[in-house]
Amino acid sequence: MSGLVLDTSLAQAFLEQGTLGQERERAGAFYRELIEAPDTAGVKGWVSCEEAAVQLDLMREKGAEIREKADVFVLVGVGGSNQAARAVVESIQPRYNGAPEILYAGNTFSPYEIGRILDATAGRSVYINVIAKNFETLEPGSHFRVLRQRMQERYTREEMARRVVLTGTYGSRLEEIAQENGYTFLSFPERIGGRYSAFSPVGLLPLAAMGLDMDAYLEGGRQMQERLRAEGGGIAAEYAAVRSLLYQKGFDIEMLVSFEPRLRWFSRWWWQLFGESEGKQKKGIFPASAIYSEDLHSIGQYMQDGRRNLIESFLTVEDPGASVRIAPDPAFGDRFDYLDGMDFAQINRAAEDATIRAHAEGGVPCIRLTTGRLDEYAFGQLYYFFMAACAVSGRLLGVDPFDQEGVEAYKRLMFRTLGKPGV
Ligand code: PA5
Repeated sequence: MSGLVLDTSLAQAFLEQGTLGQERERAGAFYRELIEAPDTAGVKGWVSCEEAAVQLDLMREKGAEIREKADVFVLVGVGGSNQAARAVVESIQPRYNGAPEILYAGNTFSPYEIGRILDATAGRSVYINVIAKNFETLEPGSHFRVLRQRMQERYTREEMARRVVLTGTYGSRLEEIAQENGYTFLSFPERIGGRYSAFSPVGLLPLAAMGLDMDAYLEGGRQMQERLRAEGGGIAAEYAAVRSLLYQKGFDIEMLVSFEPRLRWFSRWWWQLFGESEGKQKKGIFPASAIYSEDLHSIGQYMQDGRRNLIESFLTVEDPGASVRIAPDPAFGDRFDYLDGMDFAQINRAAEDATIRAHAEGGVPCIRLTTGRLDEYAFGQLYYFFMAACAVSGRLLGVDPFDQEGVEAYKRLMFRTLGKPGV
């Protein structure tokens, strides 16, 4: 199976000679610390895919039941608690594999949105998976209540027990709720934070429920884990080192871009990973994303010619997984005859190559990460690569990539307004 390829050569042209070697050394040292030093802070449970991926048999069994019995599968979670699974499902879910419709809840306070989800479950066979590490986050907690109440109007206690899956830490209120009600309980491992949870039951159960290949996905993660180990941090350390040096030169925004619209949700996963891991102590590269070619018609102008503080990381997919050829239509006279016989894959590639070249010439350090295909295995590779790179990158920046204290500031004010006890 093909592996991820990282090409930083265009970005290296923006760096001082000799600096990359040194920064790569620092990155390698932080990578070794990540995988070798004792986990005193309790944040490295994801570094081994094998350790993260617990309860596989239970998830296979429950996933098969959900596929067979559900019309609608509601995934309740926010931030790191749903992004990884959502990105895989939204990107590679075949249109007709017999899986239920998937709805994403627990990620907004908009009554309009929650109303839409409730409407979509009406009269249909519903299963839900609530993912909440400590079961304190307001969005999933409040949505679980309204969804649960709706379901209880239709299902007996025994039926509810079959249809509700809770994913949380052992010892949390969520585990107690599972025990009190006979719900299936899956572990959100204590030593794994939300945005690093892709290989734990947080990321896995939704894949199983949607009929995706959990084993190929885990194999992709394991393969990248082994590759990085064998290469002293390999492409993860290189990516971290290059962006660190670019940041030191004033490039403080990174755009993750792709010519595959189905990677839209993957961009959001990446956005959250780097945003929450690095934006601290008034430091950090601001993560942003775009989907081309559409967004070239909006922010393409800025990318080409705006303020030169942008890094652009292209996520290239070699095999588009589809083919649509353009048949000649000479009599019509639409003046697009130069496309006769071409496949859209060829046009998409021409657009991508031209964009990289033009933006690089326009003063944007461009990085390219290429994957052969977009499948479960590829997502496993991408997730492990970016999580390792992000952990190393945070250390290079001098911040803790595993905390997110800043997110609590708005919550404290909101809880006070809402009258939460003890705040
Ligand atoms: O990465 C993180 O730790 C966060 O984004 C969390 O995943 C998010 O805040 C949801 O947390 P919880 O699972 O506790 O509801």
